[in-house]
Amino acid sequence: MKAAAPIGIFDSGTGGLTVARAVKTLLPSERIVYFGDLAHLPYGDKSTAAIQAYSVKICDVLLQQGCKVILIACNSASAAAFDLVKAYVGSRALVMNVIDPLVDYLRENMAGKRIGLIGTKQTVSSNVYARKIDALQQDICLSSLATPLLVPMIEEGFIHNRVSRDIIDEYLSNEVLSNIEALILGCTHYPLIKEEIKAYYQGDVEVLDSATIVAASLKALLEHHQLVNRVDVGGKDRFLVSDHTDAFEASTRLFFGEAIHLEKYPLWE
Ligand code: DGL
Repeated sequence: MKAAAPIGIFDSGTGGLTVARAVKTLLPSERIVYFGDLAHLPYGDKSTAAIQAYSVKICDVLLQQGCKVILIACNSASAAAFDLVKAYVGSRALVMNVIDPLVDYLRENMAGKRIGLIGTKQTVSSNVYARKIDALQQDICLSSLATPLLVPMIEEGFIHNRVSRDIIDEYLSNEVLSNIEALILGCTHYPLIKEEIKAYYQGDVEVLDSATIVAASLKALLEHHQLVNRVDVGGKDRFLVSDHTDAFEASTRLFFGEAIHLEKYPLWE
């Protein structure tokens, strides 16, 4: 593995871009190869076996691109496929998920608190957050709610409008989430509606989004392995997609402030 090699990041769609942007902000000399599996979006409703199959295929692509680290920028895939991907990739690259950095943050900052979690059906039903939080033995009480309408809503650009406010209100007013002191955005799509979620709580509940926490953890991992790219080698970031959609193209432009060239890269021919 070489420090000049790119960082591979993948998600089903737009959500992982929230993480990619945080990585670029913190580590501007790093080159990114992003994979958006638009052909199989949303992951949150898929079976564990299906998400595992997509994740392994995407890792093959990112390994072919010579990535030094693969960051699973998707909670659903982190829940369903992290252990498998780590075993599959072996010593060929480092592998990171988006759940462990957030759980580390909870250990340091949220002992004894009542915390809510919203995420996809896959993430919530996997119980991965509950298991990892219980293992901390920090007396954190977790209440989880699957919020499956949010990803399609965000991918369709339905944010900051009446419809998104109604859907968000409907979910957040669920009894399961009453009396919480902090809310984990357990899906990398949700930072795109963080302001609406914060507006719902009007400052009473801390809203935890993992993008900056994950980027800091990636930096620490690269430093630990002496893989930080300290010299800007000038290569361009690449954005590979298993299918092309106009919505994704618009999102990349929104995120990075410039026209992004999307390369179509079907996982199965
Ligand atoms: N952004 C992903 C996550 O964090 C995937 C959402 C989806 O495709 O359902 O779970």
